[in-house]
Amino acid sequence: MKALVIGGTSGLGRALAAEFLAAGWDTAVTGVREEAIKDFSDSYPSARVSRLDLSVPGAHARVETLLASLGGADAVAVCAGFYADNPENDWAAEEKTIAVNAAGCAAALNAAYAHFRRKGGGRLACVSSIGGVRGNARCPAYNASKAFLFNYLEGLRQNAAAAGAKISVTNIIPAYIGDGAGAGRAMLDALLQGRRSAYIPGYWRWLAAAYRNLPDFMHEGMTRWHYVLLRPFMQRSPRWKKPE
Ligand SMILES: NC(=O)c1ccc[n+]([C@@H]2O[C@H](COP(=O)([O-])OP(=O)(O)OC[C@H]3O[C@@H](n4cnc5c(N)ncnc54)[C@H](OP(=O)(O)O)[C@@H]3O)[C@@H](O)[C@H]2O)c1
Repeated sequence: MKALVIGGTSGLGRALAAEFLAAGWDTAVTGVREEAIKDFSDSYPSARVSRLDLSVPGAHARVETLLASLGGADAVAVCAGFYADNPENDWAAEEKTIAVNAAGCAAALNAAYAHFRRKGGGRLACVSSIGGVRGNARCPAYNASKAFLFNYLEGLRQNAAAAGAKISVTNIIPAYIGDGAGAGRAMLDALLQGRRSAYIPGYWRWLAAAYRNLPDFMHEGMTRWHYVLLRPFMQRSPRWKKPE
């Protein structure tokens, strides 16, 4: 069985790729930074590692080419992501966030989904974020890009159902888990079980439901207190430069 992990050289993607390799999958990963690519190659010599920057135009064609060069894949996980703490809403940071997390990830998902449609099935997963549940003052484009992924994945899932295609589409939704110790196994299980969504840790499903239904006026006032309230549920602090 073959797996491709896009954004698999660091963090959560790396944790997932390590699980694929441990389970005996023929695994290919992509990264961006040369040191991350080298480190992954040194740590996992059996993996195929290449450079893929989703923010550069032409990402869709490059993912198609990559899949063809691998001779196809049975599972594709898009774990790439970019976060910038951006309380001043600087456009350069917003633009890059949208380019990687929304346009870039959609290009990869679209290419992988089309591959599975041609092939007759496959397992597709994408790492979004708990941030996709609602907007956030410190990183508006990040949360918006993750909300886009929630919706995009739902659309692909409905498309597969309408076509009667055996393609599972899994939205992996991490919440403040940092380097993902222990998360790789949960991600692999969610993908192999073909789950529609998997919050990591799982109890965030209930926190997300409450947060999604919070009245707008309370949400608007939350920048002052919600991280304090939620801190007991976080394995890692928010990535702020200067926490308030
Ligand atoms: N960790 C958490 O607590 C958490 C919480 C919520 C959501 N998430 C989401 O989970 C995913 C992984 O996060 P992480 O914490 O593991 O972050 P990370 O350690 O920074 O890993 C991000 C991965 O994406 C790759 N990447 C970055 N920019 C890219 C680009 N322009 N094109 C293609 N790939 C690119 C990176 O490549 P290099 O290895 O070369 O740097 C790396 O492999 C992201 O989508 C993030 O938004 C994480």
